[in-house]
Amino acid sequence: MKINFCIFIVLFVYCISSVENNSGFDHFWLVLSWPPVYCLQIRCERKPTDFVLHGLWPVNSTGHSLKNSTNGTPNFYSMLRNHSFGIEMDEHWPSLGSKEGRDPYKHIRFWEHEWEEHGSGQPYGDTYYLQSAIRLRKSVNLLRILRNQGIFPDGRSYWETGYVDAIKDAYGYPVLKCFNGYLLKEVTICVDGQARSFISCSPAERRSANCHNVISFPRHK
Ligand SMILES: *[C@@H]1O[C@H](CO)[C@@H](O)[C@H](O)[C@H]1NC(C)=O
Ligand SMILES: *[C@@H]1O[C@H](CO)[C@@H](O)[C@H](O)[C@H]1NC(C)=O
Ligand SMILES: *[C@@H]1O[C@H](CO)[C@@H](O)[C@H](O)[C@H]1NC(C)=O
Repeated sequence: MKINFCIFIVLFVYCISSVENNSGFDHFWLVLSWPPVYCLQIRCERKPTDFVLHGLWPVNSTGHSLKNSTNGTPNFYSMLRNHSFGIEMDEHWPSLGSKEGRDPYKHIRFWEHEWEEHGSGQPYGDTYYLQSAIRLRKSVNLLRILRNQGIFPDGRSYWETGYVDAIKDAYGYPVLKCFNGYLLKEVTICVDGQARSFISCSPAERRSANCHNVISFPRHK
């Protein structure tokens, strides 16, 4: 009896670890969009003047997005009955684009899309995942730490190293993405596998940055 039980435990532990290995999950990317540049590419209904959450993406150790799964999509309609959750999602994770013929549920479709493409591939439940995304977004203040280094969203251009050094000192090395190579579009900050602490993005991850040496930091037209 005892021996069977031990074998069962060993198999169970083995199964758990092989599931983890298959997914390749290592940590998260907290991806933050800069709306004035995002809104050059799509027509925006809303034009926030602070960075907004694009998503919290589970990645493997080299920073590649994990494959999504068929994990059931959370029921946002019922989750949003929690009024304070709805307010926070709306403020920090807004859907910026507009669609032909106003779609009142566009923001929910955006969150469902982010869940289907990214959230479904991560190891935690939907509530922990969504609450973590909001909590992490709220604990980042990119405008303040850039401003402290003399970098303002005023349409002027600044050295790429200026942005990176300012962000690195506060949250670890980021990955910057630009539109046309010189307009700051997205800042990715790396987060540990528990979705708790900021960590430096690795050199391999940073190679996916695509900005020139000098980057413009525009404001809304
Ligand atoms: C991460 O994922 C990419 C793309 O699926 C794959 O090519 C790469 O080998 C993976 N890296 C590791 C360390 O698993
Ligand atoms: C994974 O994401 C893609 C792109 O959004 C989507 O077309 C596909 O249906 C998703 N797969 C699953 C299993 O949810
Ligand atoms: C409602 O949402 C807030 C903000 O996200 C969260 O702190 C709180 O735990 C939620 N309440 C319930 C009952 O889920």
